[in-house]
Amino acid sequence: MKRIAVLTRDCAGVNAAIRAVVRTAAGRGVGALGILKGYEGLIDGLTVPLTRRSVSGIINLGGTILKSARCERFLSADWRGRAAETVRRLGIDGLIVMGGNGSLHGAHLLHVEAGVPVVGIPATIDNDINGVDLALGADTAVNVALDALDKIRDTATSLERIFVVEVMGRECGYIALQVALAGGCEEVLIPERDYDPDRICADIKAGNAEGKVSWIIIVAEGKARAEDVARAITDRTGFETRVAVLGHIQRGGRPTALDRIMAARLGRAAVDALLEGCTDCCVRLRNGVLDLWPLDKAVLLKTTPVESDYRLLKLLS
Ligand code: F6P
Repeated sequence: MKRIAVLTRDCAGVNAAIRAVVRTAAGRGVGALGILKGYEGLIDGLTVPLTRRSVSGIINLGGTILKSARCERFLSADWRGRAAETVRRLGIDGLIVMGGNGSLHGAHLLHVEAGVPVVGIPATIDNDINGVDLALGADTAVNVALDALDKIRDTATSLERIFVVEVMGRECGYIALQVALAGGCEEVLIPERDYDPDRICADIKAGNAEGKVSWIIIVAEGKARAEDVARAITDRTGFETRVAVLGHIQRGGRPTALDRIMAARLGRAAVDALLEGCTDCCVRLRNGVLDLWPLDKAVLLKTTPVESDYRLLKLLS
């Protein structure tokens, strides 16, 4: 294997993983190429050489130095064929894809349809990759959201208000539940659980009767809109509510130490997997152990047990 290429989506930890891939490859005598703008760049042959020096000073940066894009064209087999041609034309012997479900599914198709050797690195703040404990970027996203939440709490407490805070995560409640637990919130609404506005409002009224005056309710974007939840609470209780939608601040930002260290380990493992001839798999963390996991399993729907953590939150709130 003489040359590998790296293709990315954006989230914290991805730059640290690019650095790890490039420097591991260099250490093994293998050259590296960056694909710009994700699968768009693979179709169009947009690349940049990556060397030990060109990846210096990026370990602490959020986003991706390789840029990223949603690629509609890649949904068609014809365009995927064009991307596979780019791989051959540029003499790419193996491709490392960092991203979420869509990116990893794309990598799987490149392998199945065109025989491209691919290894994935799960990288998504949603942490919704099946069989993977923690994807790159998720820990940073939780910490960024928690930092924002701590600030909101200052106002909620001072003004004795109810805040409804919406976090990202697509169809997965990971960020919401983690943030709610770490932030000491009273309630969390996630796609994995049913939610009953009447029960929440009964809790609020009962708490208020005992002297409780402020609440923070976390809503996962995949479950409901914070605006609607806040309106339902005001309508039923008469209490004033405020809404905060945290949005894309959660995807950017300096990667936490955990994300950087994970990036180093996953990046090295991905290169070594390619060199050992592994393909159509991703490197993953499972029960604290790093191993390889087939991409067709990784892209299935992730189901995470949430009841125990939810009950803990309610017990402590
Ligand atoms: O998958 C990561 C994510 O940030 C989700 O949490 C969110 O729903 C989505 O991407 C936002 O996508 P875009 O940046 O294209 O608006």
